[in-house]
Amino acid sequence: NHTNDLAGEVVLVTAGGTREALDPVRYIGNRSSGKMGYALAYAAQRRGARVILITAPTALHPPPNCEVVSVVTTGQMRDAVVSRLPEATMVIKAAAVADYRAISMADQKLKRSGPLTLQLEPTADILAEVASLRKPGTLVIGFAAETEDHLTHGRDKLLRKGADAIVLNDVSREGIGFDSDRNAATFLTKQTAIELPEMSKRDLADRILDEAIALRRPQSVI
Ligand code: PMT
Repeated sequence: NHTNDLAGEVVLVTAGGTREALDPVRYIGNRSSGKMGYALAYAAQRRGARVILITAPTALHPPPNCEVVSVVTTGQMRDAVVSRLPEATMVIKAAAVADYRAISMADQKLKRSGPLTLQLEPTADILAEVASLRKPGTLVIGFAAETEDHLTHGRDKLLRKGADAIVLNDVSREGIGFDSDRNAATFLTKQTAIELPEMSKRDLADRILDEAIALRRPQSVI
């Protein structure tokens, strides 16, 4: 029974896949549908939190009564997250962020003529910035989508980015992860790795919030 166990929390959720334009009609994007992030926003709100949903383009209807900030690029998502961060008591970064953008965007539609080489540069690392800028007590939970050695890469991301936890998805598995209604994950902290078996994204959202709340409790001495 989760009745109002997030009352008083302000949960900032990012969702969807950011897009980086190559020319006026094309972009670099990814397969994120936004379902995982929207499920988290919905569940957090149902459990009494005030929710700020910062979303890249999706085909979904946002949960009613949550504040929605629509963005397209990684830079816009970064600016929105940083500007709302002071209000947040919990940040959950379910968005799949474009890691690269074109060094210069073409003014006109690129013409097809032979091989094309694109020059890309890395985008801002929002999760790392949020972890360093947050005020004491704000929980920061990242996601990681991995296709190989997922525990090693997940642990590395947890430490490198300074998050309190990483929700690790093995996106090489059929039927879960990107665009699916179902997902499975490992909830990784510095001390623990909790397996969350395959279930609907709605149920997984509640399990992730359960684990997030548990992080607020003082650790028992072993
Ligand atoms: O949207 P769905 O279709 O429901 O799919 C859900 C999902 C698989 C997209 C989601 O559960 C997920 O795994 N999201 C994270 C995908 C991702 O970008 O992983 P990553 O390993 O590249 O990034 C790790 C973390 O850093 C993420 O929290 C990401 O938001 C953040 N990041 C990444 C790059 C960047 N430049 N800035 C960031 O903040």
